[in-house]
Amino acid sequence: MSRFAYVNGRFVRHGEAAVHIEDRGYQLADGVYEVWAVFDGKLADAEGHFTRLWRSLDELRIAHPMSQASLLMVLREAVRRNKVKEGLCYLQVTRGVARRDHAFPNPAVPPSVVITAKSLDRAATEAKAALGASVVSVPETRWARCDIKSIGLLPNALAKQAARERGAIEAWFVDDMGLVTEGASSNAWIIDAEGTLRTRDTNANILRGITRSTLLEVIRASGLPFSEKPFTIAEAQAAKEAFITGAGSLVTPIVAVDGVKLGDGKPGPVATRLRRSYIELARQKAV
Ligand code: PDD
Repeated sequence: MSRFAYVNGRFVRHGEAAVHIEDRGYQLADGVYEVWAVFDGKLADAEGHFTRLWRSLDELRIAHPMSQASLLMVLREAVRRNKVKEGLCYLQVTRGVARRDHAFPNPAVPPSVVITAKSLDRAATEAKAALGASVVSVPETRWARCDIKSIGLLPNALAKQAARERGAIEAWFVDDMGLVTEGASSNAWIIDAEGTLRTRDTNANILRGITRSTLLEVIRASGLPFSEKPFTIAEAQAAKEAFITGAGSLVTPIVAVDGVKLGDGKPGPVATRLRRSYIELARQKAV
């Protein structure tokens, strides 16, 4: 049986339904979704799902793609076109398509809307339910695996946007011990009052930055004092210098943390030298 999906204003064949590769849902998990059970071709608990949808969108500051009345019409049309009597209707709304950047597109772009509907064999699910089901336990790790370079970047995107709105280029995450973990899209470093280079150790819940590792080679070769000792925001504000590392930022000197200037508020000499040395080494080794 032919299936149809609603994609940004049109119903298309399910097998040909596609969103742009730079959709922020695809690249950053920057979107929300809802799933309605369908009974007898009708949406169950419709109001509850709508209320949560509007709340999720508002929390993420994604524009409502259409009114509730219009959305209800499109959802019903998806159910009708797919001839779903018993099943599920799925809706996904993302912040839209924009050149990849963690912070929100400015000016804003229209949100992307995808709707699908599928039939379920209610007799089979009833038979299964009648037998009862089992569960297993897993640790609560949502999301404690920042070591994986996952595209689940919604928290990073929100942090980057917060930084941008406060006139900064990066946001540093602080853990519940008050220690900086890393940036929204970079690793975080300081040169403390004693002149020691410090960045978070990789046993912490951070991404093991490749730029960080290459820079460590530079630091070891130069004999600069270095320690993987975590630091607080207060220590960063009292530091001689600070910088961030990443494939995008390379080595970028940081001159202020939460509005507090570091030293004279100019890029420090060590960070500036490390940027040059890193670029030189990375250029040499580039294949
Ligand atoms: N981000 N930490 C996070 C959370 C990152 O997203 C990145 C890189 C880094 C630095 O990793 P590396 O040195 O391997 O680039 C640390 C990329 C540049 C991005 O999302 O655009």
